[in-house]
This record gives sequence, structure tokens and C-alpha cells, in this order.
Amino acid sequence: MKPLALVTIFGVAAIGWLNAQTPNHNTTHYEAEIQALLDAMTLEEKIGQLTQISNHFDITGPPPDEGENKIRYDLLSKGLLGAMLNITGTENTRAIQEMHLKANRHGIPLLFGLDALHGYETLFPVPIAEASSWDLEAISTSARITARESAAAGVHWTFAPMVDVSRDARWGRIMEGAGEDPYLNAQVAVAKVKGFQGDDLSSNATIAACAKHFAGYGFAEAGRDYNTVDMSRQTLHNVVLPPFKACVDAGVATFMGGYHELNGVPVTTHAYLLQEVLREDWGFEGFVVSDYNSVKEVASHGQAADLSGSAALSLQAGSDMDMGSLTYHYHLQELVASGQLDESVIDQAVARILRVKFELGLFDDPYRYCDAEREKRWLSAPEHQEAARSIARQSIVLLKNEQELLPLSRQNRIALIGPLIKDKDNPLGSWRARGIDSSAVSIWEGLQSAWPDTRWSYAKGCGITTGARSFRDRLTIDYDTSGFAEARRVAAEADLVVLALGEDCFMSAEARSRVHLDLPGVQQQLLEAVYEVNPNIVLVLMNGRPLDLSWMDERIPAIVETWFLGSQSGHAIADVLTGAYNPSGKLPVCFPRSVGQLPLYYSQKNTGRPGDENHPHIFWSGYIDERTDALYPFGYGLSYTEFTISDLKLNTSTLTPGEILTVSLTLTNTGNRAGHEVVQLYTRDHTGSSTLPVRELKGFQKVFLEPGQRRKITFELTEADLAFYTAHGKWEAEPGRFSVFAGNSSKADLEAEFELAAPR
Ligand code: BGC
Repeated sequence: MKPLALVTIFGVAAIGWLNAQTPNHNTTHYEAEIQALLDAMTLEEKIGQLTQISNHFDITGPPPDEGENKIRYDLLSKGLLGAMLNITGTENTRAIQEMHLKANRHGIPLLFGLDALHGYETLFPVPIAEASSWDLEAISTSARITARESAAAGVHWTFAPMVDVSRDARWGRIMEGAGEDPYLNAQVAVAKVKGFQGDDLSSNATIAACAKHFAGYGFAEAGRDYNTVDMSRQTLHNVVLPPFKACVDAGVATFMGGYHELNGVPVTTHAYLLQEVLREDWGFEGFVVSDYNSVKEVASHGQAADLSGSAALSLQAGSDMDMGSLTYHYHLQELVASGQLDESVIDQAVARILRVKFELGLFDDPYRYCDAEREKRWLSAPEHQEAARSIARQSIVLLKNEQELLPLSRQNRIALIGPLIKDKDNPLGSWRARGIDSSAVSIWEGLQSAWPDTRWSYAKGCGITTGARSFRDRLTIDYDTSGFAEARRVAAEADLVVLALGEDCFMSAEARSRVHLDLPGVQQQLLEAVYEVNPNIVLVLMNGRPLDLSWMDERIPAIVETWFLGSQSGHAIADVLTGAYNPSGKLPVCFPRSVGQLPLYYSQKNTGRPGDENHPHIFWSGYIDERTDALYPFGYGLSYTEFTISDLKLNTSTLTPGEILTVSLTLTNTGNRAGHEVVQLYTRDHTGSSTLPVRELKGFQKVFLEPGQRRKITFELTEADLAFYTAHGKWEAEPGRFSVFAGNSSKADLEAEFELAAPR
């Protein structure tokens, strides 16, 4: 690893980093070594490589003497494991690796995996927040730093990025991905894979990435986690698969399946996905790990009669490694002995796992990823924290700003109210890897440090949850309103109120689906109570999913979406509130007007009965009691300055296959502050053998302009950019009429047309 100078993080060199070629997995040079190992290994040893366990026992304590923990411990001490998860820190990883290698006669090192989704100890914004930055360089940087911290602490492999497109705010895991759009998800996924893996997987500062959860998990019916997914081939190929394909093209080392079933088949045993699409069509050569316990759950899905059947179906379909369930351990030997499973299927899976271990450099030095010096140097390093602050402020989306309440003015007496003002824990978000609880900069701290001479009044008002709160705890909602009187008193005495409300961060992530998209507990009541005495409210939101903000949108003059911004949250929020940073975030997902609109997304189909509220026709595809469009659409976000986009031009009215369509436009900063705008390009294919959305994102550029400055922006489109999964089951573009839309949200209203000509 070349030493990484901080200047390169935000400068030109970062572009080089992004473009760096990540090796694809056609590394034939390990094949001889892998074959030699396979020839020497017993069946039991091979099955060990397919087995991954979590750290269910105290590593330094006495060995467990009963139950499954004893079995896990025995596997480890006999060198019969392929990987572990949740073992971190140089001391632990070294101790475990030593113990394992002492017993493994072939010297095959263990892989250590962890869910480092948005940081290791330095926490970056949660993925949906980071995606709101639309800044691929910054996203890549955060993954690179996550890799550097994880790798220094002995971790080889992160279970990230999650690239599940999701259009349902009820689903708690929408927070872990880049939102509703396949193109944005794919771009973000590539930035992350390159950030985690760099251009050399064997470097001690890079780790293997894992594209998950293959595939369709974000479409769980009714937004209920783990639920059934049923979708057309068209939706699968056009919406769900592109980000996964992009990960393969970027050289991702591993894939993870999901918990769900897709069109009647659990994805753990989905041969179409795992064989035909992933390996045959896309040429993926890494390995696939199941989700935690999901091999066992094949029987619960009702596809296998027993666990032996689960094991056979899963491995044969292409789930190479069994995470957590020990089902391969219990059943594969017998399946081979009875002739129900060919040992060559096991060999193939082992080979894929060994290849990644070789690529990580673990055979050269099994301890290259654990170095106490590096761990001390890099965990929460000041330059990492600085990068976290930079991307955190870019991730904030300004949803509304009337009466110029923002940026704040020092002349005003400002009251800071709400359960999230002094909170140092929620901003860290869920899936916090080894982030230290309550270590985030709070809004209170951020504002104090930004404007130390300002006197702020404060009232908490209410809580969100009470009692134990973590990823594993059942959350208890706080209904106590005894702080309202104080909050009203403080609000009444102020010129303006900054009110920080939202979800507990553990209300999103796995198994955290909701049917209500409101502010949990008594927070809406607090908002109304404060509003009654002082309507000059800047509402600062923290949440892991789009919420229904209809009430607020009608009444509250300023609304700032911050999601969960990680370690530097309070500084980033203060940067935006005080105007030190001009907000530039854009929503990666629609905010609904009502839960009843879900799933909601901008790239809907036209239907046979299109329409809108302005056309008084009764028989159209709408609701009788709500609008059909989003409250805040995909791609939307305000700035403290104004931008105009004009002069949309195409270089040709007919795109001939093999040639390039150049779309140009002018972006002007017509306001009086410098700032960033995200210029977005959408297309519509008017006629297709299978129907297509009314708009699809095809490109975006984040541009910085001084006041009064203008810039010509160009995008290039080729036939390949217009390809889709047709009614004939092919990925290709079909000739015909197209529209191009340009603007600063999915409502982009500049339009031009062109024809795609038939191939000559
Ligand atoms: C989650 C995965 C995660 C795995 C390991 C599962 O429950 O669905 O996303 O990577 O656990 O922690």
C-alpha cells in the first residue's frame, strides 16, 4: 500500500483511485496451488472450508463444554473452519488464527469477516445518507478508510456493499443501500467496491467486499423483512440486477445471498441466480456466502423436507459457504457417502474460497492484516474523522427553506429542542461495526464549537425510546410528555427553534420494518406543542428511512434531512445550519405523502390510464384520497443558492448504433452563494417490446459553481446505455423514439427528443 496522503482524498488523485482497475477474478495463477491443496485435503477438511461461524464463545475464556458452542469451538481448534465473523482486533484475530493454523495441517488461514458497512471505528454516514451525497469520490474514500481501519484490526472481508434496490420505506434495511434507483445503486456500488478492495486485494490496507443480498431482497412484500419476493423477469433484470452486475464488473471478491425466496425459490438455492446469471452470464469467479443461517432456513421455506435436503440444494445451487448454520458441517459428509452429492461440487466451492484467500495474500502471511501499530495509528485517525465530517455534510438534504430561516443568523435567540439535540449515540446509526457507543459529535456540541459565543437555550422535550437499545434489543417507545412544558417555555422565549426529531437509529436495519412512517412516540405531539408557541422552526431530522412529512411540509418553514451521519454528525449539521457549508444532498429515494403510496418510485410505468390530479378524469390510475406523486421526489434537494439549467441540446436527432449522442446544457449559479448542484439526466424509451418506465436516470454530475458562474455540461449516451431486458429475454436496445430530460431532480423538465436508428 502506498502511503495515502490526505490531500489525495479530496483532490485530483482520488479520481485516479476511482478509475484504478480492480483485478477481475480470472487469476489462473493460483489454480495449481488450489489443485494441490484439494488433492491433499480430506472431505472433512474441505467441508471445513465451507463453514463459517460467529464468535459465540469467549475467545480467551475456558472452552465451552456443551451444545453447539462446543461444536464450534472444536471445529476451530481442529482447524476445520473456513471463516469466522465478528472477530476483530489484532489481539483476537491473531490468537484465533494461531489456534486454527496450529491444527490445520495444510496451513490454510481463516478468513475474518465483519459488517463494516459505513465504517469500522470511524463511522461515516449510513449508506442511504452517503448515497444522498451523489459524490462517488467521497463514497469511495469512506470505503477506503473503512477498509484501512478494518484491515489494521485484523479483518479481511466486509459484508458490504448492500446493493439492494428498495422502493419501500417500510423495509428497515432501505437504510443499508443507495435507495430506489438501479443506476444510482450501481454507481455507488462500484465506488464502494473499489474503495474497499483498491487495486490490490493483497494490500494490508484493502479488504474483500461482498455484494449483497443477491437478489431482490429489497422487494419483500409489504416491506416486511425476510418476506416473500415475487417479481417479473423484467423487473429482476432491469431494476434489481444491474447494481450486482456492476459489482462483478468492478471485480468484487464475494457475493452474499439473501434470506428471502424469489418467485418461489429461496435465493440460497436459486440456481438461476447463482449459476446461470452470476457465473455463466456474468463470469463471476469469487465465492458466494449464504446469509446467516439461511442454508438451514431452506427447510423452513418449505423447499426441503429436512436439513440434509437444505444442504444439498444450497450447495448444488452455488451457495459456497454456509454462514452460521453448521448445516454443511452436519450433512455434507453423509450426502457424499450416500452418493447424493458429488464431491466435485464441494471441490468447486472450496476452490472458489481458497482463491479469495490467495488473492488476499493470506497464504503468504496469515497475519498481514493484524498489526497493533497500524491499528493504533489508523483507528479513528484525525484524517479519517475529517473525511467523515466532509462526507457527512455532503449527505445532508435540505428539503424546505422558507422565510430564509437557514442559514441561521447569530442575531437571533435560538432554542435547541428535542431528544436528538444532545444525543451522542443515535447519530452513529445501526450496523456500527466497532464504532464506540455514544461517541458521535452531537448537534449541541457541533453548534457550540461553530459559534462559541452564541448563547443557546435548550430543552429535551421528550425521548424516543427508553431502556436497552441495540441492534439486538426489542425497543421500548418513550411516551413521556412531562418535558413538554419546559420545551414550550424555551421555545416561546426564542426567535427561532431548531427542533431535532426522528427515529431511534435501531429502528432501521434488519428485522426493523415499520407500518407507520411517523415520528415515533410523542415527538409529533412535541412538534405541535412547540409550533403552537413558536412556528419559526428549523426541523432537523434523523431517520433511517423516508418518513411521511406531510404535516411538516404544510407548516414548518425549514426542514433538514440528516439521516444518521456517523461520528462527525454534529459538526456536519452545524456546518449546514450556520452556512459554513452550502447543502448539496439529493434524495436517493422518494418521500411519500402517505404509507398507502408504497412502494413509491419515480421510474414508474405509464399504465394504460396515466393521468394526474390536474385532469379531472375519474377513470385513471390514481387515488381518490391522495396524490400519486411523492412529497419530495427522487433526486430532490435544495441549496442556499439558486441554479438554473438551460440550453438543452442534442448533437443529433438520430442516434446510430456505434455512435455517440452528446447531450449538452448550461448550468448557472444565479444566486449569491457558492455551491454544488447535481445535474441529472433521465431518458424515456417511448415504445418497447416490454414496457419501460416514464423516466430512468442515465447520468449525473455534481458541479461546484461560484455565484454568477456558468458552465457547459455534457453527457454522452450510446446505444448500450439504452439497453434493457426485452420481452425476448435479451439485454439490448430497441430502435424508436426517446426523450431526454435534464434538471436537478427526477422532475427535470427540460426535454429533447431523438430516434435510435435500427442497426445497419
Ligand atoms: C444479515 C447480513 C449480514 C449477516 C452477518 C445477516 O443477518 O442479513 O446482511 O451481513 O447477518 O452479520
